[in-house]
Amino acid sequence: MNIHVAARTEHREPSPADPAFARDAISGLSQQPKKLPPKYFYDETGSNLFEEITRLPEYYPTRTELGILRERGSEIAATIPHHAALVEFGAGATTKARLLLAHHRVGAYVPVDISGAFLNRQTAALRRDYPGLAVHPLVADFTCPFTLPEGIAKLPKAGFFPGSTIGNFEPEEARAFLETARKILGPGAVFVIGVDLEKDDRILQAAYDDDAGVTSRFNKNILSRINRELDGDFDLARFSHRAIYNHDAHRIEMHLVSQGAQTVHLARQGFSFRAGESIHTESSYKYSVTRFQELARRAGWTPDRVWSDERDMFSVHALRAGRA
Ligand code: AVJ
Repeated sequence: MNIHVAARTEHREPSPADPAFARDAISGLSQQPKKLPPKYFYDETGSNLFEEITRLPEYYPTRTELGILRERGSEIAATIPHHAALVEFGAGATTKARLLLAHHRVGAYVPVDISGAFLNRQTAALRRDYPGLAVHPLVADFTCPFTLPEGIAKLPKAGFFPGSTIGNFEPEEARAFLETARKILGPGAVFVIGVDLEKDDRILQAAYDDDAGVTSRFNKNILSRINRELDGDFDLARFSHRAIYNHDAHRIEMHLVSQGAQTVHLARQGFSFRAGESIHTESSYKYSVTRFQELARRAGWTPDRVWSDERDMFSVHALRAGRA
Protein backbone atom coordinates (compact mmCIF):
# COMPACT_ATOMS: atom_id res chain seq x y z
CA MET A 1 0.00 0.00 0.00
CA ASN A 2 1.38 3.39 -0.99
CA ILE A 3 0.97 5.70 2.03
CA HIS A 4 1.29 8.86 -0.04
CA VAL A 5 -1.60 7.83 -2.26
CA ALA A 6 -3.77 6.99 0.77
CA ALA A 7 -2.96 10.31 2.41
CA ARG A 8 -3.78 12.23 -0.75
CA THR A 9 -7.21 10.62 -1.23
CA GLU A 10 -8.25 11.26 2.38
CA HIS A 11 -7.47 14.97 2.12
CA ARG A 12 -10.40 16.18 -0.03
CA GLU A 13 -10.64 20.01 0.33
CA PRO A 14 -9.39 21.95 -1.49
CA SER A 15 -8.70 19.80 -4.59
CA PRO A 16 -5.02 19.93 -5.53
CA ALA A 17 -4.74 21.89 -8.76
CA ASP A 18 -3.33 19.67 -11.50
CA PRO A 19 -1.00 21.85 -13.61
CA ALA A 20 -1.54 19.65 -16.68
CA PHE A 21 -5.33 20.07 -16.36
CA ALA A 22 -4.96 23.88 -16.15
CA ARG A 23 -2.63 23.92 -19.15
CA ASP A 24 -4.82 21.61 -21.27
CA ALA A 25 -8.08 23.43 -20.36
CA ILE A 26 -6.65 26.87 -21.18
CA SER A 27 -5.10 25.71 -24.43
CA GLY A 28 -8.24 23.81 -25.52
CA LEU A 29 -10.58 26.73 -24.78
CA SER A 30 -8.23 29.13 -26.61
CA GLN A 31 -8.59 27.14 -29.84
CA GLN A 32 -11.18 27.58 -32.56
CA PRO A 33 -13.31 25.41 -32.39
CA LYS A 34 -12.99 25.11 -28.60
CA LYS A 35 -12.23 21.69 -27.14
CA LEU A 36 -11.37 19.85 -23.91
CA PRO A 37 -9.56 16.47 -23.62
CA PRO A 38 -11.92 13.62 -22.64
CA LYS A 39 -9.42 12.13 -20.16
CA TYR A 40 -10.48 14.87 -17.70
CA PHE A 41 -14.01 13.42 -17.44
CA TYR A 42 -12.76 10.81 -15.00
CA ASP A 43 -12.44 12.28 -11.53
CA GLU A 44 -14.32 10.37 -8.82
CA THR A 45 -17.73 11.83 -9.82
CA GLY A 46 -17.03 11.29 -13.52
CA SER A 47 -15.89 7.68 -13.00
CA ASN A 48 -19.11 6.99 -11.08
CA LEU A 49 -21.18 8.62 -13.83
CA PHE A 50 -19.39 6.49 -16.43
CA GLU A 51 -20.24 3.37 -14.38
CA GLU A 52 -23.86 4.56 -14.45
CA ILE A 53 -23.64 5.00 -18.25
CA THR A 54 -22.50 1.38 -18.66
CA ARG A 55 -25.78 0.24 -17.04
CA LEU A 56 -28.06 2.40 -19.24
CA PRO A 57 -30.39 0.52 -21.61
CA GLU A 58 -29.15 2.66 -24.54
CA TYR A 59 -25.43 2.16 -23.85
CA TYR A 60 -24.76 -1.19 -25.54
CA PRO A 61 -20.89 -1.33 -25.68
CA THR A 62 -20.08 -2.54 -22.15
CA ARG A 63 -22.68 -5.26 -21.92
CA THR A 64 -22.04 -6.41 -25.49
CA GLU A 65 -18.29 -6.70 -24.94
CA LEU A 66 -18.84 -8.51 -21.63
CA GLY A 67 -21.14 -10.94 -23.49
CA ILE A 68 -18.41 -11.65 -26.09
CA LEU A 69 -15.77 -12.15 -23.37
CA ARG A 70 -18.11 -14.48 -21.47
CA GLU A 71 -19.27 -16.54 -24.45
CA ARG A 72 -16.02 -16.66 -26.43
CA GLY A 73 -13.65 -16.36 -23.47
CA SER A 74 -12.06 -19.77 -23.94
CA GLU A 75 -11.32 -19.10 -27.64
CA ILE A 76 -9.99 -15.64 -26.84
CA ALA A 77 -7.84 -16.97 -23.98
CA ALA A 78 -6.52 -19.67 -26.34
CA THR A 79 -4.77 -16.97 -28.44
CA ILE A 80 -2.72 -16.07 -25.34
CA PRO A 81 0.50 -18.13 -24.89
CA HIS A 82 0.60 -20.44 -21.83
CA HIS A 83 1.82 -18.67 -18.67
CA ALA A 84 1.90 -15.31 -20.43
CA ALA A 85 1.91 -12.04 -18.52
CA LEU A 86 -1.35 -10.24 -19.26
CA VAL A 87 -0.74 -6.48 -19.40
CA GLU A 88 -3.94 -4.46 -19.19
CA PHE A 89 -3.78 -0.87 -20.44
CA GLY A 90 -5.98 1.30 -18.15
CA ALA A 91 -7.14 -1.53 -15.91
CA GLY A 92 -10.06 0.17 -14.11
CA ALA A 93 -12.32 -2.30 -12.31
CA THR A 94 -10.58 -5.43 -13.80
CA THR A 95 -14.02 -7.05 -14.38
CA LYS A 96 -13.17 -7.86 -18.01
CA ALA A 97 -9.67 -9.19 -17.26
CA ARG A 98 -11.21 -11.62 -14.76
CA LEU A 99 -13.12 -13.21 -17.64
CA LEU A 100 -9.77 -14.04 -19.30
CA LEU A 101 -7.99 -14.96 -16.06
CA ALA A 102 -10.74 -17.53 -15.36
CA HIS A 103 -9.30 -19.70 -18.18
CA HIS A 104 -6.05 -20.21 -16.22
CA ARG A 105 -3.59 -19.66 -19.08
CA VAL A 106 -2.19 -16.48 -17.65
CA GLY A 107 0.82 -16.69 -15.28
CA ALA A 108 1.01 -13.04 -14.27
CA TYR A 109 -1.27 -10.03 -14.48
CA VAL A 110 0.00 -6.46 -14.85
CA PRO A 111 -2.83 -3.95 -14.40
CA VAL A 112 -1.60 -0.52 -15.57
CA ASP A 113 -3.55 2.47 -14.32
CA ILE A 114 -3.00 6.15 -13.55
CA SER A 115 -4.77 5.86 -10.16
CA GLY A 116 -2.56 4.20 -7.53
CA ALA A 117 -5.31 4.06 -4.88
CA PHE A 118 -7.69 2.26 -7.23
CA LEU A 119 -4.97 -0.13 -8.38
CA ASN A 120 -4.08 -1.07 -4.79
CA ARG A 121 -7.66 -2.03 -4.00
CA GLN A 122 -7.97 -4.12 -7.19
CA THR A 123 -4.64 -5.86 -6.57
CA ALA A 124 -5.64 -6.97 -3.06
CA ALA A 125 -8.92 -8.41 -4.38
CA LEU A 126 -7.19 -10.22 -7.29
CA ARG A 127 -4.56 -11.81 -5.02
CA ARG A 128 -7.37 -13.10 -2.81
CA ASP A 129 -9.46 -14.45 -5.72
CA TYR A 130 -6.55 -15.91 -7.81
CA PRO A 131 -4.02 -17.28 -5.27
CA GLY A 132 -1.71 -18.78 -7.96
CA LEU A 133 -1.51 -15.57 -10.00
CA ALA A 134 1.42 -13.14 -9.73
CA VAL A 135 -0.07 -9.63 -9.75
CA HIS A 136 2.30 -6.73 -10.59
CA PRO A 137 0.34 -3.44 -10.44
CA LEU A 138 1.94 -0.58 -12.36
CA VAL A 139 1.03 3.08 -11.83
CA ALA A 140 1.52 4.74 -15.22
CA ASP A 141 -0.20 6.78 -17.92
CA PHE A 142 -0.65 3.99 -20.46
CA THR A 143 -0.71 6.47 -23.38
CA CYS A 144 3.03 7.11 -22.79
CA PRO A 145 5.83 4.53 -23.18
CA PHE A 146 6.49 2.68 -19.88
CA THR A 147 8.74 -0.17 -18.72
CA LEU A 148 7.28 -3.55 -17.73
CA PRO A 149 8.13 -4.91 -14.25
CA GLU A 150 11.38 -6.97 -13.96
CA GLY A 151 9.45 -9.91 -12.56
CA ILE A 152 7.74 -10.71 -15.87
CA ALA A 153 10.81 -10.31 -18.11
CA LYS A 154 11.00 -14.02 -18.99
CA LEU A 155 7.28 -14.57 -19.64
CA PRO A 156 5.56 -14.29 -23.03
CA LYS A 157 3.39 -11.17 -23.21
CA ALA A 158 -0.26 -10.52 -23.98
CA GLY A 159 -1.73 -7.00 -24.04
CA PHE A 160 -5.37 -6.36 -23.15
CA PHE A 161 -7.19 -3.13 -24.01
CA PRO A 162 -10.96 -3.60 -23.73
CA GLY A 163 -13.81 -1.07 -23.68
CA SER A 164 -13.14 0.57 -27.06
CA THR A 165 -11.09 3.16 -25.21
CA ILE A 166 -9.01 3.24 -28.41
CA GLY A 167 -12.02 5.04 -29.94
CA ASN A 168 -11.13 8.18 -27.96
CA PHE A 169 -7.89 8.53 -29.93
CA GLU A 170 -7.70 10.31 -33.28
CA PRO A 171 -6.87 7.63 -35.90
CA GLU A 172 -3.21 8.72 -36.09
CA GLU A 173 -2.95 8.69 -32.27
CA ALA A 174 -4.56 5.24 -32.24
CA ARG A 175 -1.94 3.98 -34.72
CA ALA A 176 0.86 5.50 -32.61
CA PHE A 177 -0.61 3.94 -29.44
CA LEU A 178 -0.76 0.50 -31.10
CA GLU A 179 2.87 0.88 -32.15
CA THR A 180 3.97 1.96 -28.65
CA ALA A 181 2.07 -0.97 -27.12
CA ARG A 182 3.78 -3.35 -29.58
CA LYS A 183 7.21 -2.03 -28.51
CA ILE A 184 6.32 -2.25 -24.79
CA LEU A 185 5.05 -5.85 -25.16
CA GLY A 186 7.92 -6.94 -27.40
CA PRO A 187 8.35 -9.53 -30.18
CA GLY A 188 5.96 -12.47 -30.16
CA ALA A 189 3.30 -10.63 -28.17
CA VAL A 190 -0.46 -10.96 -28.63
CA PHE A 191 -2.84 -8.02 -28.20
CA VAL A 192 -6.53 -8.52 -27.35
CA ILE A 193 -8.44 -5.31 -27.98
CA GLY A 194 -12.13 -4.32 -27.84
CA VAL A 195 -13.34 -2.04 -30.64
CA ASP A 196 -16.83 -0.60 -31.09
CA LEU A 197 -18.29 -1.15 -34.57
CA GLU A 198 -19.93 1.32 -36.94
CA LYS A 199 -23.71 0.95 -37.00
CA ASP A 200 -27.04 2.66 -37.51
CA ASP A 201 -26.87 6.38 -36.52
CA ARG A 202 -29.94 6.16 -34.31
CA ILE A 203 -28.40 3.46 -32.09
CA LEU A 204 -25.20 5.50 -31.72
CA GLN A 205 -27.08 8.72 -31.11
CA ALA A 206 -29.18 7.15 -28.32
CA ALA A 207 -26.12 5.53 -26.71
CA TYR A 208 -24.52 8.98 -26.30
CA ASP A 209 -27.68 10.96 -25.52
CA ASP A 210 -29.73 8.78 -23.17
CA ASP A 211 -33.25 9.54 -21.98
CA ALA A 212 -32.27 9.65 -18.30
CA GLY A 213 -29.70 12.39 -19.03
CA VAL A 214 -26.76 10.56 -17.44
CA THR A 215 -24.45 11.20 -20.42
CA SER A 216 -25.37 14.90 -20.22
CA ARG A 217 -24.31 14.95 -16.54
CA PHE A 218 -21.13 13.04 -17.43
CA ASN A 219 -20.31 15.58 -20.16
CA LYS A 220 -21.03 18.62 -17.94
CA ASN A 221 -18.96 17.16 -15.10
CA ILE A 222 -15.87 18.42 -16.93
CA LEU A 223 -17.18 21.98 -16.37
CA SER A 224 -17.83 21.30 -12.65
CA ARG A 225 -14.30 20.01 -12.42
CA ILE A 226 -12.94 23.20 -13.98
CA ASN A 227 -15.05 25.24 -11.52
CA ARG A 228 -13.79 23.27 -8.54
CA GLU A 229 -10.17 22.65 -9.44
CA LEU A 230 -9.29 25.61 -11.64
CA ASP A 231 -11.35 28.31 -9.93
CA GLY A 232 -13.82 28.48 -12.82
CA ASP A 233 -17.27 30.09 -13.02
CA PHE A 234 -19.07 27.98 -15.66
CA ASP A 235 -22.88 28.10 -15.22
CA LEU A 236 -23.81 24.50 -16.08
CA ALA A 237 -27.39 25.52 -16.85
CA ARG A 238 -26.09 27.71 -19.70
CA PHE A 239 -24.48 24.81 -21.60
CA SER A 240 -26.33 21.93 -23.18
CA HIS A 241 -25.17 18.44 -24.01
CA ARG A 242 -25.19 17.40 -27.67
CA ALA A 243 -24.12 14.15 -29.37
CA ILE A 244 -23.59 14.14 -33.14
CA TYR A 245 -22.60 11.24 -35.40
CA ASN A 246 -20.03 12.54 -37.87
CA HIS A 247 -20.44 10.09 -40.76
CA ASP A 248 -17.42 11.13 -42.81
CA ALA A 249 -15.09 10.91 -39.82
CA HIS A 250 -16.72 7.69 -38.47
CA ARG A 251 -17.11 9.16 -35.00
CA ILE A 252 -19.65 10.19 -32.38
CA GLU A 253 -18.84 13.67 -31.11
CA MET A 254 -19.92 15.04 -27.75
CA HIS A 255 -20.29 18.79 -27.42
CA LEU A 256 -21.29 21.34 -24.78
CA VAL A 257 -23.19 24.12 -26.54
CA SER A 258 -23.36 27.65 -25.13
CA GLN A 259 -26.92 28.87 -24.56
CA GLY A 260 -26.42 32.51 -25.51
CA ALA A 261 -23.35 34.72 -25.62
CA GLN A 262 -21.35 34.62 -22.41
CA THR A 263 -17.89 35.00 -20.93
CA VAL A 264 -16.56 32.36 -18.57
CA HIS A 265 -13.46 32.59 -16.39
CA LEU A 266 -10.97 30.05 -15.16
CA ALA A 267 -7.53 30.42 -13.69
CA ARG A 268 -8.06 34.22 -13.92
CA GLN A 269 -8.54 34.18 -17.70
CA GLY A 270 -11.74 35.01 -19.62
CA PHE A 271 -13.15 32.92 -22.48
CA SER A 272 -15.97 34.33 -24.62
CA PHE A 273 -18.66 32.21 -26.22
CA ARG A 274 -21.02 33.13 -29.04
CA ALA A 275 -24.62 31.89 -28.79
CA GLY A 276 -24.58 28.28 -30.03
CA GLU A 277 -20.78 28.00 -29.91
CA SER A 278 -19.64 24.58 -28.75
CA ILE A 279 -16.84 22.95 -26.80
CA HIS A 280 -15.95 19.62 -28.44
CA THR A 281 -15.36 17.37 -25.41
CA GLU A 282 -15.04 13.89 -26.91
CA SER A 283 -14.75 11.90 -30.12
CA SER A 284 -15.61 8.22 -29.96
CA TYR A 285 -14.41 6.61 -33.20
CA LYS A 286 -16.25 3.60 -34.61
CA TYR A 287 -14.48 1.10 -36.87
CA SER A 288 -15.43 -1.61 -39.32
CA VAL A 289 -13.48 -4.85 -38.77
CA THR A 290 -11.38 -4.25 -41.89
CA ARG A 291 -10.68 -0.58 -41.13
CA PHE A 292 -9.43 -1.52 -37.66
CA GLN A 293 -7.28 -4.36 -39.04
CA GLU A 294 -5.78 -1.95 -41.57
CA LEU A 295 -4.90 0.47 -38.74
CA ALA A 296 -3.33 -2.39 -36.73
CA ARG A 297 -1.23 -3.44 -39.76
CA ARG A 298 0.09 0.09 -40.11
CA ALA A 299 1.26 -0.18 -36.47
CA GLY A 300 3.19 -3.42 -37.15
CA TRP A 301 0.58 -5.90 -35.91
CA THR A 302 -0.79 -8.88 -37.83
CA PRO A 303 -4.54 -9.32 -37.40
CA ASP A 304 -5.45 -12.78 -36.13
CA ARG A 305 -8.99 -13.73 -35.04
CA VAL A 306 -11.96 -11.40 -34.51
CA TRP A 307 -15.07 -12.07 -32.44
CA SER A 308 -18.31 -10.11 -32.43
CA ASP A 309 -21.86 -10.46 -31.11
CA GLU A 310 -24.65 -11.79 -33.34
CA ARG A 311 -25.88 -8.24 -34.08
CA ASP A 312 -22.37 -7.01 -35.04
CA MET A 313 -22.43 -4.22 -32.49
CA PHE A 314 -18.95 -4.71 -31.00
CA SER A 315 -15.71 -6.52 -31.90
CA VAL A 316 -12.85 -8.12 -29.98
CA HIS A 317 -9.64 -8.46 -32.02
CA ALA A 318 -6.59 -10.66 -31.44
CA LEU A 319 -3.44 -9.19 -33.03
CA ARG A 320 0.07 -10.64 -33.25
CA ALA A 321 3.28 -8.60 -33.17
CA GLY A 322 5.09 -8.52 -36.49
CA ARG A 323 3.99 -8.15 -40.06
CA ALA A 324 2.71 -11.19 -41.98
C1 AVJ B 1 -14.89 4.93 -22.27
C2 AVJ B 1 -14.26 6.07 -24.27
C3 AVJ B 1 -15.23 3.90 -24.41
O1 AVJ B 1 -16.60 6.42 -26.01
O2 AVJ B 1 -18.20 5.08 -25.44
C4 AVJ B 1 -19.44 6.97 -22.88
C5 AVJ B 1 -16.85 7.05 -23.08
N1 AVJ B 1 -18.57 8.82 -23.54
N2 AVJ B 1 -20.43 7.84 -23.11
C6 AVJ B 1 -17.21 5.76 -25.17
C7 AVJ B 1 -18.26 7.59 -23.16
C8 AVJ B 1 -19.91 8.96 -23.50
C9 AVJ B 1 -16.67 5.72 -23.73
N3 AVJ B 1 -15.28 5.18 -23.68
